[in-house]
Amino acid sequence: MADIQSTTAAAPLIIRRSDYRPPDWLVPEITLDFDLDAAATRVHATLSVVRNGGQDRPLRLDGDGLLPLEVKVDGRALGPDEWALDGGALVIALPGQAHVVETRVELAPEGNSKLMGLYASSGLLCTQCEAEGFRRITFFPDRPDVLSRYTVRMEADKARYPVLLANGDPVGQGDLPGGRHWARWNDPFPKPCYLFALVAGDLACNADRFVTMSGQEVALGIWVKKADLPRTAHAMKALKDSMAWDERVYGREYDLDVFNIVAVADFNFGAMENKGLNIFNSRYILADPETATDLDYDGVEGVVAHEYFHNWSGNRITCRDWFQLSLKEGFTVFRDQSFSADMGSRAVKRIEDVRILRAAQFQEDSGPLAHPVRPESYMEISNFYTATIYNKGAELIRMMALMLGPERFRASTDLYFERHDGEAATCEDFVRAMEDGGGVDLAQFRLWYEQAGTPRVRALLNHDADAGTAELVLEQTVPPTPGQPDKKPMAIPLRVALFDPQSGQHRGDQLLMLTEAKQAFTFTGFAQPPVLSINRGFSAPVIVESNRSQADLAFLSARDDDPFARYEAMQQLMVNVLVGSIGGQPVDEAAVVAAIRHTATDPQLDPAFVAEAIRLPSEAYLGDQMAVVDPDAIHAAREALQRRIGEALEPLWRDIHAGTKANAFSLSPAAKGARKLRNIALHYLVASGAQDGPEIAFGQFHEADNMTERQAALATLANGASDAREAALDIFYNRYRDDALTLDKWFQTQAFAFHPDTVQLVAELREHKDFTLTNPNRVRSLFGAFAGNQWAFHDKSGKGYRLVADCIIALDKINPQTAARLVPPLGRWRRFDEGRAAMMRAELERILTEPDLSRDVTEQAGKSLE
Ligand code: ARG
Ligand code: ZN
Repeated sequence: MADIQSTTAAAPLIIRRSDYRPPDWLVPEITLDFDLDAAATRVHATLSVVRNGGQDRPLRLDGDGLLPLEVKVDGRALGPDEWALDGGALVIALPGQAHVVETRVELAPEGNSKLMGLYASSGLLCTQCEAEGFRRITFFPDRPDVLSRYTVRMEADKARYPVLLANGDPVGQGDLPGGRHWARWNDPFPKPCYLFALVAGDLACNADRFVTMSGQEVALGIWVKKADLPRTAHAMKALKDSMAWDERVYGREYDLDVFNIVAVADFNFGAMENKGLNIFNSRYILADPETATDLDYDGVEGVVAHEYFHNWSGNRITCRDWFQLSLKEGFTVFRDQSFSADMGSRAVKRIEDVRILRAAQFQEDSGPLAHPVRPESYMEISNFYTATIYNKGAELIRMMALMLGPERFRASTDLYFERHDGEAATCEDFVRAMEDGGGVDLAQFRLWYEQAGTPRVRALLNHDADAGTAELVLEQTVPPTPGQPDKKPMAIPLRVALFDPQSGQHRGDQLLMLTEAKQAFTFTGFAQPPVLSINRGFSAPVIVESNRSQADLAFLSARDDDPFARYEAMQQLMVNVLVGSIGGQPVDEAAVVAAIRHTATDPQLDPAFVAEAIRLPSEAYLGDQMAVVDPDAIHAAREALQRRIGEALEPLWRDIHAGTKANAFSLSPAAKGARKLRNIALHYLVASGAQDGPEIAFGQFHEADNMTERQAALATLANGASDAREAALDIFYNRYRDDALTLDKWFQTQAFAFHPDTVQLVAELREHKDFTLTNPNRVRSLFGAFAGNQWAFHDKSGKGYRLVADCIIALDKINPQTAARLVPPLGRWRRFDEGRAAMMRAELERILTEPDLSRDVTEQAGKSLE
């Protein structure tokens, strides 16, 4: 096996969207027979293949690390000169139009540390095929536009693997001699191989049922380790809510008799939408008050919904090729965001989603890895499961939904589902359905799929007192990105309102379409200069720069009736003060304090909204506002303002903290909002420097009946150097040392901490007996969190860079996909001073000199240096 892997590691190849060609051979049917075993699994595949189009090319079946033990065509075993291996792929010249091809291979799931293909995870056997994992299981045309009907038979030791699951419906099972058993599953829906899945193991089931809108009964199962069963209730509720929501909002009904979800501990990302058998990272299934924060609960709900919604946006209609990935991911993120908004607070959900977009996607869009929502080329497709494809992709759908309005948007999605059901479609197909169903012209809008980079919109509002008019001048620029030096103006939908500062009212929300580089809009009937509220609801994923004064922003932070715009005004007020003070300008901190006081004492506001609005912008977001990021100055300025807010409003923080103490845990929006507000009050109280701050935090840590308050108290303590810090970390460790998901929080909290010794602490935690590179969640909770801690990661010693680079190098040998995800923070070197930039580059260069570096890391590190 080892030899094969090394011979298949071909030179980095660039795949281009413009090279797309329909498949040479189709595979309408496949039968898979698995003889499962952790050390040696045998796979017998029978493919019915049909020549596609008038060409005479041989059959080429992708493979990665596979050696054929037998190859048969139409029942006859081929000799060794009748097939060839080419870059891992099996090539067979076939004479006719249709044949039956059989292959046998052997796999070692327990040695599969990449977690792609068939692998072992704490006693289970499971699969991950998207994007190109199926070729690690059997020889097959591993591309999403080859759709097949699957029949799967599994055979395994019954004691070790009592449960055998695959896609579709179960159609048979039975016992075999020698303590073995078998099961057969049939999936009636033709699907691409990236949606194939099987699971074998000792699993317990939370079983439930759902009756669809046409009266079909669906058996639902959430399969976990027996001890985890009590932690599956929230996921089951989320699943049933999602099924009902997709019927109500999109008219989409589930289509099989069973729907199963399995939680596994070792998983490269969030979850996977395999047809009828979703496989999840256990962190997005398991939740109870003792171990899950409110954020974790929301994560479970959102990801369960996301994977379920893929059944239509992804499975019934899949992608023609991987350049179309956002067709399913952008749309499905938009769908899960809308669902979560309906289940909780719409305003807070939008604020959270924009915060994620800005933190992840705007950063990506302004760096060396920037790419369009529909990329033109890639080296390793796993590197393109990005915030741009997912989150910016969702914003594109959201803009189209806004421009169409709810009825026409629904008509367009109906058309899309009807027109392309059962097909492998393109982003262009989606946009055309929006045009045809909505009766709009999206010619210019298509640039959003083609052009990378976050557009900047300058908004200047001029008032003419004599004419009684206000003129809004909008100017847009789209920055150059790799491979795209010059950009065309985009079609940018901006929701705008003009407020009369006297009455505090506006005359209605308007949707302005900015389509030119520069455009002016005139509004009449304004004797007094109005106050501009722009990009309300974050109607377009752009950066807005305006000439609004601090007084205007304070006004909007108190009066804007669009909750996102109100939040945004407050954030901008804070950004101006922080960036001003970093630049050594005189700033009015009192205005921030006053605005926070006003918001925090407004009885009309939802506490969850208040908590969002009064929170200071992150250090990373402040860095994004600067020409050259100065992590130390940002940290110092933010800490100082935090302390000032803490001191100035200390009685208020004490009041809120005492007044939000709940009696018993509940997941009601009110209870969640109260916890969110309580935690930020605690944070400001401790930031004030009050003598009893650490004691109060420790009290909350100790008394909390839920993880939301316990972890927030721990995080607050972890920033400082009190005795309570060490005590709380020890207690937390001892309480959760045997619970991997919760122990992740212990690592993560320390890696995120604003503690002067964080770099050293992370270096020590890397050596901790509970740290391992083989579990992606554990790696992310230490190194992913650390790389997101701007102040610590960018420590001017450069030690933070070395720590992360060392991790990338070591992890690349185990799990390249997860290693590659740690590269982008190092790739942002152009944003920093020369000293830091040189050290970051040096680490990237060091990574690239490693022998046998994966394609995943090669692409990310190489592009980062270009
Ligand atoms: N389709 C999955 C989801 O978003 C994610 C698959 C990620 N695959 C990867 N190679 N990173 O629901
Ligand atoms: Zn997805």
